[in-house]
Amino acid sequence: MKLYAIAFQCALFTLVEQATRHDSCVCELTNSEQRFPHDKLSTVEDNASECNSNITSQKTMELESLLLGLERRLPQLQEDVAILERENDGELYGALSLQVIENEMRDIMQLIEKLNSTTLGHQRLISDTTQKVEDLKAEMEQLEKYDTMQVVKRQEASKLLQRELGQCLKGLYPTSQPTQPPHGGCPHGQFVNITEPDVNTLSEYGNSHKYGAWGQDPKPEAGKERWYWLVVMTSGNRYSNYVRRYSSKSSLIAGVSVPGNVQIHSTNPTTNTIQGPNVVMYGEALYYNCYNQDAVCRFNLTTKTVTTLQLPKGTRFNSKGNFCHLEECYPFTDMDLATDESGVWVIYTTTQDFGNLVLSKVEEGEPLSLGQTWHTSVYKQAVTNTFMACGVLYATRYVNKGTEEIFYSFDTATGAERFNIGIFIFKMAPNIYALNYSPVDQMLHAYSDAYMVSYKVLFE
Ligand SMILES: *[C@@H]1O[C@H](CO)[C@@H](O)[C@H](O)[C@H]1NC(C)=O
Ligand SMILES: *[C@@H]1O[C@H](CO)[C@@H](O)[C@H](O)[C@H]1NC(C)=O
Ligand SMILES: *[C@@H]1O[C@H](CO)[C@@H](O)[C@H](O)[C@H]1NC(C)=O
Ligand SMILES: *[C@@H]1O[C@H](CO)[C@@H](O)[C@H](O)[C@H]1NC(C)=O
Ligand SMILES: *[C@@H]1O[C@H](CO)[C@@H](O)[C@H](O)[C@H]1NC(C)=O
Repeated sequence: MKLYAIAFQCALFTLVEQATRHDSCVCELTNSEQRFPHDKLSTVEDNASECNSNITSQKTMELESLLLGLERRLPQLQEDVAILERENDGELYGALSLQVIENEMRDIMQLIEKLNSTTLGHQRLISDTTQKVEDLKAEMEQLEKYDTMQVVKRQEASKLLQRELGQCLKGLYPTSQPTQPPHGGCPHGQFVNITEPDVNTLSEYGNSHKYGAWGQDPKPEAGKERWYWLVVMTSGNRYSNYVRRYSSKSSLIAGVSVPGNVQIHSTNPTTNTIQGPNVVMYGEALYYNCYNQDAVCRFNLTTKTVTTLQLPKGTRFNSKGNFCHLEECYPFTDMDLATDESGVWVIYTTTQDFGNLVLSKVEEGEPLSLGQTWHTSVYKQAVTNTFMACGVLYATRYVNKGTEEIFYSFDTATGAERFNIGIFIFKMAPNIYALNYSPVDQMLHAYSDAYMVSYKVLFE
């Protein structure tokens, strides 16, 4: 019987292997180091990630956008006051202007209050966080003493690599899959109300272009997640030939577009010109009613090419199936494009539907095609605008200069219609020419007599 022993010694471990009886081996591992306090490390990690999640770029953005909002609104107010002073002869006009200015003042006060509370919040956050970071640093220094094997350092390096790999993968597959039609219930719950206006600013074109639309692409290209788009009807309040893009909310509010315009055609109007304000962007393409046609156009902003989708025979177009209220109809609003969780929709009316709203799903693939269609019993001329949220069509009507009402809904999952929704929209200007829901952040974006206003949708 052979008897042997191997003793292996390194800085940390003592490994003893010895044959005892016959062929059985016993290994004895002696760690000469202190036990590594994993639980402490994990609290430090938790605390650090909580710190991180508290300081988001969103917070900085919020402040920036508030400041820019103020910067833009104050000169506007000054100008309004100047106009009032100049033209305060007609009594009615004077009273109206005064009301506009009072509204404006109230908004500016709200902005200032919001700014004040945001700043206070930030100051608190900064002092809290500084203290926490100091504590964490001290704790880490303690922990590093244990890290003689450089375990943590290597773990950190490997985490960094993983993160980079993750980002790399995200870059490879930038487009998220479109969400399935939300048949069988909305992930957010039931639409119950909307907030007071959030973003609220005059478009950079000022009061001269009252018709238009704006928003965010719900299915953006990688790197364009924060971008906004704006389309204004630059020719006779009816036609437009380009999309203007902004790389952040603050540049939208400040009216500074670095990406600039993407033009469909240099002539306006011509074949494939944008006709009417109710347009949407989805998947880096603009969907709109094409000039002089009963068709939806899709303008691919990457390839700058246009695809058309013919709507059913009898579809009203060229300002024959408009949104209206008692006093007036909004010209060239025959086709309303909309986005929600499931993609793109088109709302229009036909002769065979006797002017009632018709809703069709737009299948965004190649070729562009019309999906399922639903026929409602609401008369389009009694409606000022529509939007989709979670597979439900909502329609609004004009109540007065300051208020619009979301009064009607049609659920595509059940076919149920309701005429008693009773959600009120607080308006900044009398007419809402475009209204669309963004499934990304559940905001309603309105273009209202050149004002860009947004409201948060509240679900239950
Ligand atoms: C982590 O945060 C908790 C609660 O905020 C605190 O009690 C604890 O001391 C912190 N730990 C470290 C290591 O900073
Ligand atoms: C994060 O913010 C919340 C709410 O402001 C606060 O209660 C919490 O203590 C903060 N956490 C850290 C680590 O700063
Ligand atoms: C800012 O908020 C603080 C604390 O709520 C308040 O005392 C102060 O008057 C506010 N300032 C303004 C300009 O509203
Ligand atoms: C809906 O929201 C508005 C504005 O925030 C509020 O004034 C109103 O009371 C809310 N309505 C309901 C039914 O909650
Ligand atoms: C735009 O064109 C590009 C290149 O052909 C294509 O990959 C992309 O899917 C198109 N986008 C839309 C929305 O059709």
